[in-house]
Amino acid sequence: MPKRPPVARTLPALHRAIDQLRARKAKVAIVPTMGALHDGHLTLVRNAKRRGLKVVVSIFVNPTQFAPHEDFASYPRTMNTDLDKLATLAADLVWAPTAAVMYPEDYASRIAVDGPAVAGLEDKYRPHFFSGVATVVGKLFNQCRPDFAIFGEKDYQQLKVVTRMSRDLDMRVKVIGVPTVREKDGLAMSSRNVYLSADERRTAPILHRTMKEISAQLRAGAEVETALVQGRTAITEAGFAIDYLEARHAEALMPISSMKDGPVRLLVAAKIGRTRLIDNMRA
Ligand code: PAF
Repeated sequence: MPKRPPVARTLPALHRAIDQLRARKAKVAIVPTMGALHDGHLTLVRNAKRRGLKVVVSIFVNPTQFAPHEDFASYPRTMNTDLDKLATLAADLVWAPTAAVMYPEDYASRIAVDGPAVAGLEDKYRPHFFSGVATVVGKLFNQCRPDFAIFGEKDYQQLKVVTRMSRDLDMRVKVIGVPTVREKDGLAMSSRNVYLSADERRTAPILHRTMKEISAQLRAGAEVETALVQGRTAITEAGFAIDYLEARHAEALMPISSMKDGPVRLLVAAKIGRTRLIDNMRA
């Protein structure tokens, strides 16, 4: 059995471990996660390793990005299997603070984000979300002082928000986006897929299938709004309640009306049963 990476749980232990990683001028990458690691996360670690970087994986289910009615309490927590998985990839360090370390009792600061964080996508349905993400990611960057941060494209708006935040706040962390890892039937890997019943799991790949169809239609010259309306109907008829299915400019995330306004990204969020799934792809 390969050796598990060391786990830092306090800031002094983290700083000591990072100083050791940086000895001999090694560059450090952080892979921020909330645990429940799947192959999507492991691909981010592999990507950092291939670049010759020392890899710190943070595992922290961040309370400030969940609204009271959301799944903070039930979010899967699988630290032991996460550490076994990271052992197989020779991850260098795990940063697993408690909530009290991350947000001590007198904690009083938050990072406010604009631009891609107010595009009317995730922010419309989860208004608390990006300020919570930006705050914890900003803290992770300050705590670990990485040269690089590796994020999955699956949370596409989040990737754009943290990229902009790092640049706007002069954080000197280069944010790298890595393509979404999918199950064989196209479903984007997500820690929340474990919530799906067998029936829901069979239905879930329709999100990706529909985006692929819309992409093909747009490339063949179809009107954007017509293709989106058909796509929304297909997803709704399959049993999802849609939050959004949109075609946006891939960088600014602003609405587009034609492929000429591109590059174009399709983004979807929809609920099946009690599970909310998000996905996206290049059109
Ligand atoms: O994508 C996630 O898992 C989380 O939003 C992140 C970036 C780890 C911040 O808590």
